[in-house]
Parts: sequence; C-alpha cells; structure tokens
Amino acid sequence: MNTIKLDISQAIQAIPGKSVDNLLPEAASALAKVDNATGAGNDFLGWVDLPTRLSEDLINDINATASQLREECEVVVSIGIGGSYLGAKAVIEALSDSFAAYRTDGRDPKVVFAGQNIGEDYMFELMRWLDDKKFGIIVISKSGTTTEPAIAFRLLKEMLERKVGKEAAARRIVAITDAKRGALRQLATEEGYKTFVIDDNVGGRFSVLTPVGLLPIAVAGYDIRALIDGARQMQQATTAASYDQNPALLYAATRNALYRDGKKIEILVNYNPKLHYFGEWWKQLYGESEGKDKKGIFPAAVDNSTDLHSMGQWIQDGERTIFETVVSVEAPEHETLIPTDNDNLDGLNYIAGKRIDQVNKMAELGTRIAHVDGGVPNLRITIPALREQYLGQLIYFFEKACGISGYILDVNPFNQPGVEDYKRNMFALLEKPGYEEATAAIKTRL
Ligand code: PA5
Repeated sequence: MNTIKLDISQAIQAIPGKSVDNLLPEAASALAKVDNATGAGNDFLGWVDLPTRLSEDLINDINATASQLREECEVVVSIGIGGSYLGAKAVIEALSDSFAAYRTDGRDPKVVFAGQNIGEDYMFELMRWLDDKKFGIIVISKSGTTTEPAIAFRLLKEMLERKVGKEAAARRIVAITDAKRGALRQLATEEGYKTFVIDDNVGGRFSVLTPVGLLPIAVAGYDIRALIDGARQMQQATTAASYDQNPALLYAATRNALYRDGKKIEILVNYNPKLHYFGEWWKQLYGESEGKDKKGIFPAAVDNSTDLHSMGQWIQDGERTIFETVVSVEAPEHETLIPTDNDNLDGLNYIAGKRIDQVNKMAELGTRIAHVDGGVPNLRITIPALREQYLGQLIYFFEKACGISGYILDVNPFNQPGVEDYKRNMFALLEKPGYEEATAAIKTRL
C-alpha cells in the first residue's frame, strides 16, 4: 500500500543521544490515554475511531446533498471559522487547480468561504460577486453561537431569500451544527433546513472527517470516500506502541524530545503551494491543542521555495529554537519540462530537459542539508501525491500524533479555554446583553 512516510533521521542527530528512545514509555502511555480514553478531555475522543465509524448511510447522505447543491448552484459559500473552516479549505486547496478561481468553464460549483473573518470589505465584495450568481450556503458552527459565521450567515441568508424567496432559499441552505444546542440548530429547525450533526465528542479542530469537512469537499467535486479510506488506513497504522509500527507515535515523541531540548518552535514546511492551507489547518490543530498551561511548541508554517526568500534567512541563521517538519509531495500531477534555449542568455541550459519538480526537489534537499548544518533539526513526511487518499492519511496521522503529543506534554489537548478571552472582551465592548458588568469593567481600561 502506498502511504505517507516519516523520516526523523535528520532530527535526532541534533538532540542528546537516545532522547527519543527514552521517551517511549511516556509516548506509549500517552497513546494508551488516547486509545483507551483515560486522559484529560476524554469526552472529546470521538475522532479516534471516526474513520471506521462513519456509516455508509451518512456518506451517501453527504454525497447526495452535495450533488443537489452542485446541480442547483454555481457557487456554494461555506460559512464557518477555525475547525469549522480550515479542514475543508485545506483539502479543497490541496486538490484544486491553482487557477480554479479564474475558471469560467462552469464545470464544478466554486466553493468559497465566509465567516472566517470579520472583514467588512471581504463581505461586501463577496456579496457583490455573488449578486448575479446562483448560490447556496453551507453554514457550519458546532456551538451554533460563534459571532463571525453568525454575521456572515445573517447577511447571506437575507441576500439569498431576497433573490429567490424564502422557500427556494431554504432548499439551498444546509446547516451543520450540534444535535440540539445553539442558535443555529434552532434557526435551522424553524426554517426547515437540511442539517447534519457534529457529534458532541468531536472538537472543531478534529472535525474535518465529519460533515463539517466532508460536505464542502464533496460539493467541490472531490472523492470523500477515498479521503475516508486514507484516514481508515492511518487509523489502523497508528495503534501500536512501537515507533517502527506507529508513525504518529514517533512524530509525537520526536517533537517532544526536541521541545525538551529547547526547540520551542516547529515550522511546517511545504514545497508545493497547494499545501498552504494544510499548514493553516495544522497550525490550528497543534496551536489550540498544545498551547496551554504556559507550555507548548509554537506552530508556524512556511511555503517554500517562496519563503526561502523571506523567512529563509531567519530559519537558517536566527535563534536556534526551531525545528522543521517538511511535508514533501513525491509526484506532481502534471509534467512540465524546462526548455532548451539556443542563446542561453539566462544561463539555464544546465537544467534544460529537467522537470520543474526535479529542481524543486533539489531546492528541498539543498535546504534540508543547509538547515541541518545550521542547527535546524529536520523531520520529513513524504506523501505520494496530492490525492484524496493520501490527504486522508495525512489528516489522521497529524490528529493522532496531536492527541499523543498533547498528553506527553501533559496538557488537555482537547479544550481551548484561551479562545474565550477575546470573545468576552469583544462582547463587553459591543455591549452584548448579559455582559453589563464586563462592559463597565472594560470601559475603565479604555
Ligand atoms: O477547534 C475549535 O473548537 C474551534 O476552533 C472552533 O472550531 C471554532 O471556534 C468555531 O467554533 P464553532 O464551530 O462552534 O462555530
């Protein structure tokens, strides 16, 4: 079976001998906490067996709903933020034609995103662009109360109802939310929208393999069964308490060994611009899971070789508190050769006849050697190609490793108490009913 692979050989040489091996008992105990649900936050472990638990009925329902939206709409706006946004965005970007946004062949509906920011210009320009288009909406919020998507949904729902009437609008709106709780559930019930449930025991950042991620991905025209199959393969491959047989265990232990040796920042590196949003998804997964109790590796991401011309200097030469995890795609989808030029005025004939990817791979290898020489430990994950199956493997690999790693770090990887602080202040400043005391308190600080 083709599968993603992890190589830590260029990372362990930078840390005291055997520190990854010495971590095995802790890593094995962390793995057991994930698999047996015996650690902190164990009511949020529904993602662990999710790939094999996804029922045929649910997958068929998601695909049927996606087909209906694809038939009726030129554009589908997926509304959501954080875990209700990043997974779908990451997978769709990884699989899409880089210029899909400019395509006018009308083959697949465009999936665009809203509610992931509070940019007024963003909303204005989105609505202006949607004005002459047949559009539908997938509104996603586990809590059903998050402000950013709620604002976007209020605007787009009103616009759609004005264009096509309330009844037709309701047929083009799908809500994904909690089974019972939250304003969105109530609204969806009253308006009669098609809904999907986000299980209580799956947190937002672990929800890409639920309808939260699967529906937008299916609407964009991608094969969610292959994505799920890949995740199932990785679910099976990440159960053993042995580094040789469990790459998630090895990754979690290695990054913790590096952290204990003073490497406080991990940079997820890609050499394929289609993986930019995968880095964003990964940052949320690890940042929200591990950054607590005044601990945690700071997750950063770069897109190379683009960022070798900006962040490259810092990574090569800045404070030696970083390590990098490269996600390297083995085979591009298309072949483009560098042509020969008789005049050779640009001096490039030495690489004429080579594929662009061969140059890219040498950029990666050259950078790896330079970084390791410069004191940046390098982990490398290879993914055979940007296809649904391998993305499913990669997603599950990082999720499983994240749970293990959080427990090695001795935090609850499944809560995010820090996210509430900005909300409390924002609501106080906006004078939201119920926040009167907080409003009075914050005003004394202005
Ligand atoms: O991972 C998380 O739990 C968060 O990032 C949430 O996904 C994010 O805050 C959005 O929440 P909700 O889906 O409730 O609107």
